[in-house]
Amino acid sequence: AFERTLSIIKPDAVAKNVIGKIYSRFEDAGLKIVAARMTHLSREQAEQFYSVHKERPFFKALVDFMISGPVMIQALEGEGAVAKNRDLMGATDPQKADKGTIRADFADSIDANAVHGSDSSDNARIEIGFFFPEIDIYLR
Ligand code: CMP
Repeated sequence: AFERTLSIIKPDAVAKNVIGKIYSRFEDAGLKIVAARMTHLSREQAEQFYSVHKERPFFKALVDFMISGPVMIQALEGEGAVAKNRDLMGATDPQKADKGTIRADFADSIDANAVHGSDSSDNARIEIGFFFPEIDIYLR
C-alpha cells in the first residue's frame, strides 16, 4: 500500500554527521521526505513518544539517550514505506543487522542504533501525528 512512516535519526547519527548519507538511502529506495524537522527532545516528549516501552527495563536508558542531543525527524512516503524503511534500517541490534543496512553501517549499540522507524502503518499515523501537524506535511 502507499503509506507514510515516521523516521527519527537519533542523536548518535546526528553527532556523526551522517544525516545526508541516511537521507540518500531513503531517496535511493524511492521514499520521499514529505516533512522534516530537527529538534532536541525534552524528557517529557521522549517519555511520551516511547510510552509503549515504559515498563521495559531499557526505558530510562532509551529516554536518556534520545535526549542526549538533537534528532532529525522525518515523515517518509511511498509504496510499502513502513516495511521499506525497516529493511533499510536493519535489525534493532546493530550486531544483528544485515550488511549494508543503516544500523550495520552507522550504529554502535542497541541504544545508540542510529535510527527509529514506525513498526506498522497504524503506529506510523500516531507517530507522525505526534511530531507533525497535517499542515506541515507536503504532498508531492
Ligand atoms: P527504536 O526503534 O527507537 O524503539 C525502541 C528502542 O529501544 C529501540 O529502537 C532501541 O534503540 C532501544 N532498546 C534498547 N534495548 C532494547 C531491547 N532490549 N529491545 C528493544 N529495543 C531496545
